[in-house]
Amino acid sequence: PRPVYFTRHGESIFNIHGLIGGDSSLSPKGEKFADLLSLFIHNEPELPPDQLNVWTSTMKRARATAAKIKCARYVEWRSLREIEVGVCDGLSYDQIRDNFPQEYKAREMDKLRYRYPRGESYMDIISRLESVIFELERQQAPVVIVAHQAVLRCLYAYFLDLPPEEVPYLAIPLHTVIKVTPKAYGCAEKRYKMMV
Ligand code: G3H
Repeated sequence: PRPVYFTRHGESIFNIHGLIGGDSSLSPKGEKFADLLSLFIHNEPELPPDQLNVWTSTMKRARATAAKIKCARYVEWRSLREIEVGVCDGLSYDQIRDNFPQEYKAREMDKLRYRYPRGESYMDIISRLESVIFELERQQAPVVIVAHQAVLRCLYAYFLDLPPEEVPYLAIPLHTVIKVTPKAYGCAEKRYKMMV
């Protein structure tokens, strides 16, 4: 069975400042990750450029991270965008705690179902990923997905068959490629940490 490769975008300017939301560009480290990622992918025998599909979100940091990868087909998906944080866009977690204490508490109590005012919940992401998963399942060619933390937590949990309650807490670090290979029962997983 065909493996799927996932990675978050490289470090962004908002990541450096600990801010959520926005559509910021890559930091110099993030740019370096984009270089290392393309080298890594071009060296993977399972990812021949004449067959490879690269899917990103429509966000700058994901597009820039994938920009140097040679592939047969490149697709930008709105459904792969990071969780929409609504009124909390551009804030740090400390600022959310200070400005919206109730919201902060409510999210702590039920991170899976909590929906940001004018934004989304993890449950919302799980449902908008249905179309991506449908396409992914029917792909014959290998796929590399460059997306975002919350979205990749949901996709990863789908492949590893993890309970929804665990989704918001899964570790999907920056600058790490996760290779998931479907097996007869479940999936095998391998992680590659890039030294940026
Ligand atoms: O808000 C963007 C983050 O990638 C999601 O992180 O759900 O742990 O707050 P969080």
